[in-house]
Amino acid sequence: MALNLQELREQALKELSSLSDSERLEAWRVKYLGRKGALPLLLRGLGSLSLEERKTTGAEANKLKDALLEALEKRLGEIRSHALSVLGTEAFDITLPGRPIALGRLHPITQVIREVGAIFSSLGFQVVEGPEVEWDYYNFEALNIPPEHPARDMFSTFWIDSAGEQGKKMLLRTHTSPMQIRVMEKTEPPVRVVVPGTVFRYEATDATHESMFHQVEGLAVDRSITMADLKGTLFEFIRLLFGAERKARFRCTYFPFVEPGVDMAIDCFICKGKGCRVCSYSGWLEVLGAGMVHPEVLDRVGYDSRVYTGFAFGMGVERLAMLRWGIEDIRLFFQNDIRFLRQF
Ligand code: PHE
Repeated sequence: MALNLQELREQALKELSSLSDSERLEAWRVKYLGRKGALPLLLRGLGSLSLEERKTTGAEANKLKDALLEALEKRLGEIRSHALSVLGTEAFDITLPGRPIALGRLHPITQVIREVGAIFSSLGFQVVEGPEVEWDYYNFEALNIPPEHPARDMFSTFWIDSAGEQGKKMLLRTHTSPMQIRVMEKTEPPVRVVVPGTVFRYEATDATHESMFHQVEGLAVDRSITMADLKGTLFEFIRLLFGAERKARFRCTYFPFVEPGVDMAIDCFICKGKGCRVCSYSGWLEVLGAGMVHPEVLDRVGYDSRVYTGFAFGMGVERLAMLRWGIEDIRLFFQNDIRFLRQF
């Protein structure tokens, strides 16, 4: 009998230590200490023993009962405090608001490029892109700027020492105009494209100059395109970008690849034409260069200049962005200062 009690104790305690939820603990209690449990059953068998044996075994059985109850309490306590510590460290409060995810945004220059692209798309132009490393031919020669032509002075050029094909010089494009040639070489008229892209000039950096900046080129070629189409298209573009009340001014200027060539300015929307710092007290803001595509340029790509005419334009994206947001230093766009960039 004594052995039975000992076996019972070992078995019960071993089982208990493997239990970790209160439901199982209750089942364990019923199994060993309940009315029909193992221990009471054992005690009921005491009747067949001698009085002496009954006494000692009974006392031992009662001790075992106390011990098991105590072990049960202890195990319960362990389980509870473990659950509490998990709550305190690992669990999370599902009622807390979530942490906001930091969202990035498009660079202001990208925003302007996309907006300009969207406006010209709405006017029937296609958006295309081209290489930043160019041949001399596309950047200059095909645009009516032969070697030694003084117009090359307009474009301070980064030249590339290339092991390219003999006699062909490579450079970083100084404007997006080479894409006029590339598009016309590949397409039959009619043509209506705008070309956003990065351009490079070998120039000292200051508040209005960077050695890398962006342009959007435009080209439309078809039968009977006139200067009126140029003016109407660009005027509509400016009104969509800067507001319906804008006025435009076209003045003659020189670009070798257009004839005639024009500078387009809009009335200063900051001072409403009265004169301020931004417009250098002139009342006008120059926004782009344009003109009718030079017949030489058309003929060189195999378009018959007696049949086709066209207009082209090119604008500086940084300049548009600076005007739009009143930014006074072009260098801010490329310093990657989050305090500046997150304002747009
Ligand atoms: N490519 C010229 C520039 O960079 C701008 C321009 C483009 C002028 C198309 C006329 C026509 O200054």
